[in-house]
Amino acid sequence: MIIIGVALVVVILVFGIAAFTGAPYVPSLKRDLSTAFDKLYKLGKKDLLVDLGSGDGKVLGAAIKRGARATGVEINPFLVLWTKLKHKKAKVFCGNIFKFKFPKETTIVYVFGDSRDIVKIVQYVQKEATRLGKSLSLVSLAFDVKISGVKLIKNEGSYYLYQVNPEKD
Ligand SMILES: C[S@@+](CC[C@H](N)C(=O)[O-])C[C@H]1O[C@@H](n2cnc3c(N)ncnc32)[C@H](O)[C@@H]1O
Repeated sequence: MIIIGVALVVVILVFGIAAFTGAPYVPSLKRDLSTAFDKLYKLGKKDLLVDLGSGDGKVLGAAIKRGARATGVEINPFLVLWTKLKHKKAKVFCGNIFKFKFPKETTIVYVFGDSRDIVKIVQYVQKEATRLGKSLSLVSLAFDVKISGVKLIKNEGSYYLYQVNPEKD
């Protein structure tokens, strides 16, 4: 009984701390992911998707189902473990979005952040685009951002598709 109680407290603490550092764990819906990856941006074999704050890996699973490679970074170790068990073809790292180095083959980044940190996240994507020396596509759920060098391509439902260009010196 005590062990179960302690385990519960640990789980609640980890989820609480993760929510404090950024967007809380709220997964994207399957039908929204179809809007994002079948209508807004045709995700396929050519792509390597990075999900910033990958939660339970649902987005990574949707990317793999469409033939893309998928990598996520997630601060909550329980969600990382769950993703590793559920989506074996996905790569997921336990860590902070703002320290995550994108793989060089990255073509598209997915973000379901919250209003507190969305601008900071998009600026980080731009920093990584600069480091990799190429433009990246960015799909953002629910937020419209206006940053120099980040061009809105189109929107569909609650999603926005951007082209994030490397910063000029
Ligand atoms: C709104 S959920 C989105 C989950 C998933 N991307 C999806 O769309 O289904 C945001 C996730 O980001 C994680 N997160 C928040 N801040 C983070 C940070 N600084 N570094 C890594 N992950 C973070 C949370 O733990 C949560 O699982």
